[in-house]
Amino acid sequence: MDLAYRYHLFPMSFSCLTTIILLLGSVLASVKDGQDEIDRLALLEFKARIADPSGVLSLWNDSSHFCDWYGVTCGRKHRRVTILDRGSKKLSGVVSPHIGNLSFLRGVNLENNSFHAKIPPHFGRLLRLQKLSLNNNSFSGQIPSNLSYCSNLLVLDLGFNMLEGNLLMELGSLSKLQVLKLQFNSLMGNILPSIGNLSSLQKIGITWNNFSGTIPETLGQLRNLKILYLSINKFTGTIPISIFNISTLAWLGVGENQLEGGLPSDLGFTLPNIEIISMGHNHLTGPIPESLSNASNLEVIQIDQNNFTGKVPSFSKIRGLFWFILAKTT
Ligand SMILES: *[C@@H]1O[C@H](CO)[C@@H](O)[C@H](O)[C@H]1NC(C)=O
Ligand SMILES: *[C@@H]1O[C@H](CO)[C@@H](O)[C@H](O)[C@H]1NC(C)=O
Ligand SMILES: *[C@@H]1O[C@H](CO)[C@@H](O)[C@H](O)[C@H]1NC(C)=O
Ligand SMILES: *[C@@H]1O[C@H](CO)[C@@H](O)[C@H](O)[C@H]1NC(C)=O
Ligand SMILES: *[C@@H]1O[C@H](CO)[C@@H](O)[C@H](O)[C@H]1NC(C)=O
Ligand SMILES: *[C@@H]1O[C@H](CO)[C@@H](O)[C@H](O)[C@H]1NC(C)=O
Ligand SMILES: *[C@@H]1O[C@H](CO)[C@@H](O)[C@H](O)[C@H]1NC(C)=O
Ligand SMILES: *[C@@H]1O[C@H](CO)[C@@H](O)[C@H](O)[C@H]1NC(C)=O
Ligand SMILES: *[C@@H]1O[C@H](CO)[C@@H](O)[C@H](O)[C@H]1NC(C)=O
Ligand SMILES: *[C@@H]1O[C@H](CO)[C@@H](O)[C@H](O)[C@H]1NC(C)=O
Repeated sequence: MDLAYRYHLFPMSFSCLTTIILLLGSVLASVKDGQDEIDRLALLEFKARIADPSGVLSLWNDSSHFCDWYGVTCGRKHRRVTILDRGSKKLSGVVSPHIGNLSFLRGVNLENNSFHAKIPPHFGRLLRLQKLSLNNNSFSGQIPSNLSYCSNLLVLDLGFNMLEGNLLMELGSLSKLQVLKLQFNSLMGNILPSIGNLSSLQKIGITWNNFSGTIPETLGQLRNLKILYLSINKFTGTIPISIFNISTLAWLGVGENQLEGGLPSDLGFTLPNIEIISMGHNHLTGPIPESLSNASNLEVIQIDQNNFTGKVPSFSKIRGLFWFILAKTT
């Protein structure tokens, strides 16, 4: 009885186990397929919201796996989308919220197209995102505060759009950010001092917006900064002295604001790597620092339409200087 029981039990449980294993296998496979399926659906939804006169997305169809679609790159281990690169493809339309489902995305490049409407907050779900280039489109509305969840962002390029509203404080949490480009939009309000916390920043470009208030002194904390372009805004007050202390700085643009005050006399020594100084169209006063003649990498000095006084230093030592504008300086 016992034996017979065992005899019947073992084969039964064996086949049961087999069934369970087989079941488990197919469940696991379907989970894996399911994840693939999320990406495939998201890409198709992305495509569905886009007018594509050149037909570059018509090749996104089921005759091949989405990892083989043009402009799509997948990871090697898991077949999930890591890069979406459809820049300069004459695309127009809106970016589908489904973009937020491509949870393995590290890079998104949609620059030089004609996308409009708001930047979907669903980008905030892309926690692996390192590079987001949406520049040169027609995005409008505010920069979604949800972008602050993309804490791995290295490059945020939203220039040449129609973005408006304030630059949100939340961006202060993008602690790895190296490049912040917001030029040619209609952004306004103050640049908050917390920008000084983004210690990896190398490039800041916010030319041609409506930013106002004073230039935060905390920018001087950015010890890796090479490019600082604040031109064509409504900044007032003086240029914080701390900025002339960023020895890595190569390009400094603050032209066409309402800045006043003078320049430190040792400017040419504290900015040894400076290549471009663009400060035209402000209310700057005082002498043009003599030490500028020691900044041997200078290529462009544009300081016209100010109230500088005194002698113009000799730039005869600077071989690369090819553009020097100081007209209408008194
Ligand atoms: C589907 O994509 C393939 C290339 O992957 C292309 O050759 C084919 O023409 C496409 N089909 C349609 C209907 O666009
Ligand atoms: C976008 O356009 C600019 C200017 O024409 C160009 O330098 C850049 O390479 C373009 N980007 C892409 C992804 O094609
Ligand atoms: C993908 O994203 C959309 C919109 O954010 C959502 O409605 C949908 O449920 C998500 N999931 C899948 C599996 O598509
Ligand atoms: C924007 O994109 C268009 C079309 O690709 C291109 O011709 C133009 O040079 C780009 N402008 C900028 C500022 O990148
Ligand atoms: C904003 O980002 C958070 C964090 O990733 C996410 O939970 C939320 O769904 C996002 N909002 C939208 C509208 O996708
Ligand atoms: C700045 O604001 C003024 C006045 O509201 C407006 O006329 C101008 O177009 C704005 N400039 C930008 C770059 O948005
Ligand atoms: C960020 O910067 C602000 C102002 O400069 C400062 O008060 C704050 O403590 C900083 N926060 C972090 C997390 O470093
Ligand atoms: C400039 O840098 C020096 C040395 O790094 C520091 O002692 C000084 O406080 C800084 N000055 C300003 C105005 O940031
Ligand atoms: C230069 O100073 C004069 C006299 O103080 C003033 O009238 C003029 O507006 C100033 N110009 C600039 C560009 O600040
Ligand atoms: C700065 O330039 C002046 C004038 O050319 C020169 O006399 C002086 O030695 C230079 N100083 C340094 C520290 O290079």
